[in-house]
Amino acid sequence: MYSIAIDGPAGAGKSTIAKTIAKKLEFIYVDTGAMYRAMALYFIRHEIDPKNEEAINKACPDIHVSINYEDGVQQVLLNGENVNGLIRTEEVGNMASKTSAYKTVRATLLDLQRDLAKTANILMDGRDIGTNVLPDADLKIYLTASSKVRAERRYKELVEKGVKADFNKIEEDIIIRDRQDMEREIAPLKQADDAVLVDSSDMTIEEVVDAIVAEFEKVK
Ligand code: DC
Repeated sequence: MYSIAIDGPAGAGKSTIAKTIAKKLEFIYVDTGAMYRAMALYFIRHEIDPKNEEAINKACPDIHVSINYEDGVQQVLLNGENVNGLIRTEEVGNMASKTSAYKTVRATLLDLQRDLAKTANILMDGRDIGTNVLPDADLKIYLTASSKVRAERRYKELVEKGVKADFNKIEEDIIIRDRQDMEREIAPLKQADDAVLVDSSDMTIEEVVDAIVAEFEKVK
């Protein structure tokens, strides 16, 4: 069984690229960010202050996250409720970035993530997959792009959807999120020593996909 870990900052295109590669290689795609987002949704619904570690710790035993697949698309369940349609907001993403810094939150998801990798060929993306969740992954990719390019992509995406967007604010938010994810004490975002660095700033999606598939061909 093979496992591929793709880590990197927010907006680097991880999920689009990971989904495409998983389809190509017929691997199961596991989006771990969605699991942190499901927990974040619980904290928001219960009006738990992300700064209040004690309250977060107290809530964790009541949170059960699981995933299943519908037509090959990952669905995240929060205490049995499919919350896939509710977790893609900025509010949930920010809450996930803040609360994922806590040990108890990370411990709530770690076993689930590791167990998934035992069941099939998987491609898992997140922040700490190569460094912490799957240290023995067959291939580790650190996928990044400059904050300017990531903000440009996000800006374009919003404008295309007809949403009013402020480029500077988007870039600022990306930089704050990077800092939160990289500077936390437990399992921070960083490139694993044995990860292949892919900087997608000047690459198309197809080029990134091809580069990663070529790396996998070398190790399989
Ligand atoms: O990839 P994403 O934007 O859906 O992730 C949301 C947040 O979840 C991210 O800012 C940090 C956290 N996260 C994490 O700490 N570890 C992971 N493996 C995946 C996500």
